[in-house]
Amino acid sequence: MIMDEKRGNSGEKTAPEEALTGSVRDYRLPVGTDLLGRVDGFYHWQDLRRQHGLWPYAKSTETAPKTHCAAKTDSGEEISGVNFASQDYLSLSSHPAIKQAAIDAIGEYGVHSAGSGALLGNTRLSLQLEKTISDFMGGPEVVLYPTGWSAGFAAVQGLVRSHDHVVLDVLAHSCLQEGARAATQNIHFHGHLNLEGLTRRLQRIRSADAVNAILVCTESLFSMHSDTPDIAAMRAICDEYDARLLVDCAHDFGCIGDDGLGHIGLQKMIDKVDVIIGSFSKTFASNGGFIAVKTRAVAEYMKYFSATQTFSNALSPAQAATVLAAFEIVASDEGKRRRLSLMDNILYMRSEMAKVDLEALGHPSAIVPVRVGAEGLARIAARELASLGAIANLVEYPAVPQGGARFRVQVMADHTRGDVDALVRLMRQAMQSADLEFRSYREADGSSLKRGAVRWNAASNAA
Ligand SMILES: Cc1ncc(COP(=O)(O)O)c(C=O)c1O
Repeated sequence: MIMDEKRGNSGEKTAPEEALTGSVRDYRLPVGTDLLGRVDGFYHWQDLRRQHGLWPYAKSTETAPKTHCAAKTDSGEEISGVNFASQDYLSLSSHPAIKQAAIDAIGEYGVHSAGSGALLGNTRLSLQLEKTISDFMGGPEVVLYPTGWSAGFAAVQGLVRSHDHVVLDVLAHSCLQEGARAATQNIHFHGHLNLEGLTRRLQRIRSADAVNAILVCTESLFSMHSDTPDIAAMRAICDEYDARLLVDCAHDFGCIGDDGLGHIGLQKMIDKVDVIIGSFSKTFASNGGFIAVKTRAVAEYMKYFSATQTFSNALSPAQAATVLAAFEIVASDEGKRRRLSLMDNILYMRSEMAKVDLEALGHPSAIVPVRVGAEGLARIAARELASLGAIANLVEYPAVPQGGARFRVQVMADHTRGDVDALVRLMRQAMQSADLEFRSYREADGSSLKRGAVRWNAASNAA
């Protein structure tokens, strides 16, 4: 069993402090002339974690990513159980109609687009997909990208030039931050969802620079916190300072709201945002993404000036067909029913968690972030959870604040209440045993783990 190996045959607990502390950020800026050798430190730390079952990343699925699945850790250990780690919010990835659409596309086109959009990579299916997305959103111009990440990157890099400014929520996704870095050095951050902070940044930029453009970037649903900005207020602030507004709707588009338009739709802002970014990889059962803009002029510009569109191969025919079939379902009564059962699962999970002192952060969405706290505690909890038969992703610093590690539970429409009950029960159990183990390390002489808070509600665990 995994647990016995990690603890030794006598059951004693052996995780060293180094495996319970530190973060990938410590290895972000290696120095020295040996470009390759200097990354060894990261591997040493990662492998120490791996040896103690404390590296919960890079698991691979052995079966389809449905509500239950079998997987392997990146050391090859087998795990299986209820799956709350897949981004397949409406459970479309194994939908028979969608699988058939992909099979038909392969039958007709083969498996490859064999070119960038500019150079014969588009297909009848990809053109149809652009039109379908546009119709679903009420008529914007749509440009497709090979991934959601590349769409976000491209939206910023393709439009912003070195004299311009980008203002981002401090938690804006890596694709937006990297796009900004590729475009300009004039990058400004404001506090998460902080409208006063945004106003202050824009005031300062505009008082010093009245001639260059400003792009403000946010997300309609922040995936580590499950929270949402006031997009109408952001629009008003942007207008005051002659700035454009970009919203990345990767995690709620298609799966939230009666019509599936996500928070932009719920806030009735779909035609008031200048640039909308979407990803197919959460709700639409495929890799890929898109940018929606208001004019043909901007769409055409993006096709030739945003690097990941111009210089990267287009979606494969099977991907385009998959997403087309997914949109058909998302826009149908079946899509509505799936969104309702997804939301029912989310609300049920959040209320069941509250009953056992598991703290679900943010607002109801397909992502339920569950607070753990100290990184060491969270790493042990992740190991315990997997060994108990539940799969959920752990996120830790720097993806979330230091000491703010959490499980990022991802709910699907096809989960049953029984699945949710199992996850809640096993997560509670995993937290309890992790808490005891982590406390024993903290109490050891000289433990650096004494520094910093533990967090998870120790009081109720002791009770
Ligand atoms: C907000 C946001 N934008 C973009 C992406 C990238 O999307 P994809 O995984 O489809 O490349 C993600 C992925 O997790 C995301 O969370």
